[in-house]
Amino acid sequence: MSGDHVNDASRAGRGDVRETAEKLSYLSGFGNEHSSEAVPGALPHGRNSPQRAPLGLYAEQLSGSAFTEPRAHNRRSWLYRIRPSAAHPRFTRVDNGTLRTAPFTESVPDPNRLRWNPLPDPAPGTDFLAGLWTLGGNGDATQRTGMGIHLYHANSSMTDRVFSDADGELLIVPERGGLLLRTEFGLLRAEPGEVALIPRGVRFRVELLEAASDSGQGPTARGYVCENYGAPFQLPDLGPIGANGLANARDFRAPVAAYEEVEGPVEVVNKFCGNLWRATYDHSPLDVVAWHGNHVPYVYDLRRFNVIGSISYDHPDPSIFTVLTSPSDTPGLAGVDFVVFAPRWLVGEDTFRPPYFHRNVMSEYMGLIEGAYDAKAEGFVPGGGSLHNMMSAHGPDRDTFDKASAAELRPQKIDDGLAFMFETRWPVTATEQAARASHLQRGYDDVWQGLERHFRN
Ligand SMILES: [Fe+2]
Repeated sequence: MSGDHVNDASRAGRGDVRETAEKLSYLSGFGNEHSSEAVPGALPHGRNSPQRAPLGLYAEQLSGSAFTEPRAHNRRSWLYRIRPSAAHPRFTRVDNGTLRTAPFTESVPDPNRLRWNPLPDPAPGTDFLAGLWTLGGNGDATQRTGMGIHLYHANSSMTDRVFSDADGELLIVPERGGLLLRTEFGLLRAEPGEVALIPRGVRFRVELLEAASDSGQGPTARGYVCENYGAPFQLPDLGPIGANGLANARDFRAPVAAYEEVEGPVEVVNKFCGNLWRATYDHSPLDVVAWHGNHVPYVYDLRRFNVIGSISYDHPDPSIFTVLTSPSDTPGLAGVDFVVFAPRWLVGEDTFRPPYFHRNVMSEYMGLIEGAYDAKAEGFVPGGGSLHNMMSAHGPDRDTFDKASAAELRPQKIDDGLAFMFETRWPVTATEQAARASHLQRGYDDVWQGLERHFRN
């Protein structure tokens, strides 16, 4: 398999970013043993580390699991690169900006239901990394448990700098504006309605498909990020569903190898145990000419999700909408599940069809990619989010309850929205900046006002 050789000229104009993104080809499948070479003959055959790697490249292994983990969970890739990753100068600390990392100790966990409007507009020249803003999370990055919830709002592409996150893998959920992700493994395009995953430690650069002008005016890129400190996301087991359904493995797309030969200063920012560190390389580390393995970045189109629901009465618990799961050490109890509420038919007879009222031992952060969500008539907007922590009571608002209780139960297509959830076994603590944010909705509890007594005896 061959890939595009990406050279310095491809960074030149913003128009080229869109053009580059639309020409990409991909490898298909989740967790596959992929292989790809951008130059024929770059990939060694029959062994991983020959005495002399082809074309004068350096061979390097990237481990995504311990060497000794069971084969079913073992992840690693072999990279064949112009310079080994070890060839870099010392890292020095830089300011963490609005990024925060577990353990989250700035504020106390809040049992209240919380909801935020979208992030305010970024200052001119804000790229993806600078635009990351941490809402909260749980666990402990140094213990490799839990997750961080971030939002981003950027109006500028990353230029001459790359990012890598040693603390966790990054599940990027664009809500506004497409992204071109230049990774060590090659290029990925992620538009709203798709998600992209960057494995722990993989260097990447984010370019905007629609960038603002130099004055900061115009389109911006906005979205959500789940930083998963725990076990890598995997597809959920299907049990009685059978061999197919939910997110089908073949719909996950990995990049083909693409490298850049950039000599000159490139800033590499490394997130390590909650802090940002920077080193200035004399070359781009996106210089992998060939690779093989099963530890790779990927994209997935949420519109490909095979939605399964009831064809009799009631509706299943929303776990039926799980796209990816990060298991914890207790079977069935996820460190974090990524769940999507995709367009679907509702046909349940004698059934209250919107999401029911409930209290959940799991904690739920919800975001909205487009349209509206069927349990909230208003206030929950694309780019915003809600946090319903462990055992906090929530469900439809009064308007939704009244309508759904009186509706004629014909088959009904829910097709005007795309919402998602990060659902986690541990309570989510908001950061201080999220707890005090001007875009925090102060009156969220009012959603459930007016749910009056109907009891008759
Ligand atoms: Fe819920």
